[in-house]
Amino acid sequence: MKMNELKLVYFSPTGTTRKVIMEISANINLKSVSYDLTVHKEKKPSLKFKSNDLVLFGIPVYAGRVPSTFLEYFENLSGQGTPAALVATYGCREYEDALLELKNEVESRGFKVIGAAAFPTEHSIVRSIGLGRPNKQDLKGIADFGMQLNRRVQSETSFDQFNIVVPGNMPYRKAGAAQLTPKVDVTACTMCGSCAKSCPTGAIDAKDPKKTNKKKCISCQKCLRICKQKARYVSGTKMKLLTGKLNKACQSDKKADIFL
Ligand SMILES: Cc1cc2nc3c(=O)[nH]c(=O)nc-3n(C[C@H](O)[C@H](O)[C@H](O)COP(=O)(O)O)c2cc1C
Ligand code: SF4
Ligand code: SF4
Repeated sequence: MKMNELKLVYFSPTGTTRKVIMEISANINLKSVSYDLTVHKEKKPSLKFKSNDLVLFGIPVYAGRVPSTFLEYFENLSGQGTPAALVATYGCREYEDALLELKNEVESRGFKVIGAAAFPTEHSIVRSIGLGRPNKQDLKGIADFGMQLNRRVQSETSFDQFNIVVPGNMPYRKAGAAQLTPKVDVTACTMCGSCAKSCPTGAIDAKDPKKTNKKKCISCQKCLRICKQKARYVSGTKMKLLTGKLNKACQSDKKADIFL
């Protein structure tokens, strides 16, 4: 099949998933177009793809699931038997039902999954877990996944024969991670507004960034990383509790799982 373009559809509040997606993309011999769904959009963009596009979907795992914010964009998503590859990054605990949920969601909208992968990475909340991952060795494996996808799309005339099986259970795990809405040190905040502009869910008040809507916040940690004044923080007690829990549940040397 003569392929058209590589479409990169991803959600990446702290940039790790994006890094992985870009490494895969660099090894696929097609012109790429990015749809970064991390930037909050009141009006959901149209995501309609052709039968000869390859769509690479990328998500961070949140509580063993696909982040709900990413799925909100799926109301305008459609394919025409379009080949798709799925990528989940996760902070060295587990990815549970995330790949299965993503597969079901894209296949119900006209995509044919031809490959999937789960890559263990630095944990975006407790960064000492999997610190620095993806590292050099991880990136080699990630690039290799890209090369294998490239071979597949360049050599096949049809994708009907692929039946990619990913782990996971239905009904899915109950969604909802620990609520870690960042607080603001009002003495350090300069009201620059960067955090409000960058919040993927529009949870931060643009007129008064010291106010955060807890109900909208998904604890993604993006505002914390973006604030140059280091004015945003998660309460020490909550972090201590979570760090203890995750240190027991995570293994920093987890291996990638590839489904081809
Ligand atoms: C709210 C939240 C929930 C998370 N849940 C999980 C999880 O269930 N399992 C896991 O291993 N990592 C979990 N993580 C870690 C992220 O999946 C991981 O660090 C990911 O690579 C972050 O991607 P990003 O940099 O693209 O945002 C979670 C992180 C956040 C912020
Ligand atoms: S990015 Fe930091 S300094 Fe700027 S408004 Fe937000 S909290 Fe305040
Ligand atoms: S307010 Fe919540 S959802 Fe918004 S960037 Fe900060 S942690 Fe993420």
